[in-house]
Amino acid sequence: MLTMDMPLSVNILGFISLMTYVITLIPTNLKIVFPHTKETGIPQFLLKYRRSIGIIAFFFALGHSFLLVKKRNLDFLDLKTFWIYIQGITTLTIFSLLAITSNNWSIKKLKRNWKKLHQMTYFAIFLLIWHILDKMSGHWTYLTPIGIAIITGITILFLIRLWIIYQDTTTKNKRKITKLNN
Ligand code: HEM
Repeated sequence: MLTMDMPLSVNILGFISLMTYVITLIPTNLKIVFPHTKETGIPQFLLKYRRSIGIIAFFFALGHSFLLVKKRNLDFLDLKTFWIYIQGITTLTIFSLLAITSNNWSIKKLKRNWKKLHQMTYFAIFLLIWHILDKMSGHWTYLTPIGIAIITGITILFLIRLWIIYQDTTTKNKRKITKLNN
């Protein structure tokens, strides 16, 4: 029989971090995959508050990690422990870098590299799928299926976006070649 556990505060913090992180990914992906949503003003609204929402995601992730380290008495200097939590640690490192550089000063200082750095946010999608499936294996809480459904949804949206961009660049390149040949 399938039973599910009640979520504890660590689970709730991880879940809120996941939700707020996914919200930061919605506007750009939505604008490209469903361009008509621009008329609703939703992507513009989310874009306006994206940086602050990202910082909130970071603080919830920090709380989640802190509680877990305390509860399980984790020692990351031990390579075995470090390896077991590698997805969470890598994601937290990415979230920290993004939170620290989510300000106008960093945008000015890092110039083109700022965009490259912030593209690491897309890598975190895949790390988090791995993290949830691995860490929650065999003891799902009521939050686990919701978390998995939402991260799967944003992954599909992101992959469709990549496919649209790929199609656009190949059509543009084809047009350029035909122009050159004529
Ligand atoms: C940085 C971003 C992180 C996010 C967004 C995140 C998110 C989550 C989520 C959504 C869950 C599943 C909760 C549920 O379904 O009930 C989870 C579980 C878990 N996370 Fe994270 N996590 C992050 C980082 C970390 C780190 C750094 C660690 C290591 C200390 C960690 C250790 C765990 C563990 C051990 C579980 C399983 C908890 C349990 O057995 O109930 N996570 N995390």
